[in-house]
Amino acid sequence: MNFDLAAFRAEFAFFDQNPDWVYLDNAATMHKPAAVVAAETEFYQKFNANVHRGAHQLSQQATQLFEQSRDTVAAYVNARSREEIIWCSGATAALNQLAFGLMGSVLQPGDRVLISAMEHHANIVPWQFHCQQHGVQLDVIPLTVNHQLDLAEFKRLLALKPKVVSVTQVSNVLGHIQPVAEMVQLAKAAGALTIIDGAQGVLLQQPDMQQLDCDFYVFSGHKIYGPTGIGVLYGRQETLELLKPLLYGGEMIQQVSFSGTTLNQLPYRLEAGTPNIAGAVGLAAALRWLQQWDQSAIALHKQQLLKQLYEGLAQLPGIELLSQSSKNAGIIAFNIEGEHHSDVAALLDQQQIAVRAGSHCAMPLFAAMHKNGAVRLSLAPYNTEQEIVRTLLAIKQVLEILHG
Ligand code: ALA
Repeated sequence: MNFDLAAFRAEFAFFDQNPDWVYLDNAATMHKPAAVVAAETEFYQKFNANVHRGAHQLSQQATQLFEQSRDTVAAYVNARSREEIIWCSGATAALNQLAFGLMGSVLQPGDRVLISAMEHHANIVPWQFHCQQHGVQLDVIPLTVNHQLDLAEFKRLLALKPKVVSVTQVSNVLGHIQPVAEMVQLAKAAGALTIIDGAQGVLLQQPDMQQLDCDFYVFSGHKIYGPTGIGVLYGRQETLELLKPLLYGGEMIQQVSFSGTTLNQLPYRLEAGTPNIAGAVGLAAALRWLQQWDQSAIALHKQQLLKQLYEGLAQLPGIELLSQSSKNAGIIAFNIEGEHHSDVAALLDQQQIAVRAGSHCAMPLFAAMHKNGAVRLSLAPYNTEQEIVRTLLAIKQVLEILHG
């Protein structure tokens, strides 16, 4: 099936409202198709009520929509059961729950956790903080000279028998796709629990939890066409049972008295407080909408855009590319030699090209690359060839302004 780019793009009202902008900040957040906006709006207009606890039919209706959304996610990621899907506010919240929840239950003083130098701060700082407090050693897989994970070092660090390995599927800065399936198998063989940060990887292809075989997988709704403030913590039921809840109150409680409290069963045990009901409904709508499109045609279009952008940048003088184009999910980090990334981004902003600049919540990655930041261009399937041409022209102009 051919990819009808015009039809795909027409689903996003944002572009009608902002015809002069080129949006290349998709790794930060994506735009939402009409189906997602409609699902959220409809929920508030027709069904708004709290879930699980109302004595009235409206609450039961809201609960049904909310729980059906969980079923949609469970089916989308090929979970074994709906109990394996925990709603959270996003990948950051999920990773915080995991780092907190495994300390003291799985992780004891003297144990080791293994992450990588390529992680987003959300997959570094919670570990760093809790590991320090619990006397757990945090090890880091270094990078190769090509800014990939050093798999030889990964194997060497696995020999130290970490109890937990937590790595990203795709670098949020470079776009580099990591061999997570192979890494999960190696980590499991070494006896570790495995966590995959799918924030940037969930869109690569429909994730299959039974095939990937990791213990936990996390992603944010807003990076897969869904709303902000909703995300998913997938876990195998037996490993979710190991987690201490990070938050208490609401539906996660079964029985409370001053002599003690018993907690609810999964998935509710890890979902304190009123959840983001409309967000869950919106995320389920996003996944259903996405499945209507030919995934391989979408991926091919995005790869063509990446090639066009990468080759165009490589031809410009004074451009330093930090990303590689092969095994890349559609993100390019670059600098202009001798110039500050923020100046480049500000000049692009003046030409209505939306990019991100800085260290992208990945300071250790920049330290490993001996850089203090970069400009990041991140693509989505609704971007067009003409937008890439305009972006390359805009960067050429920036070069002329800065380098004369
Ligand atoms: N984590 C998001 C990014 O990489 C916000 O931009």
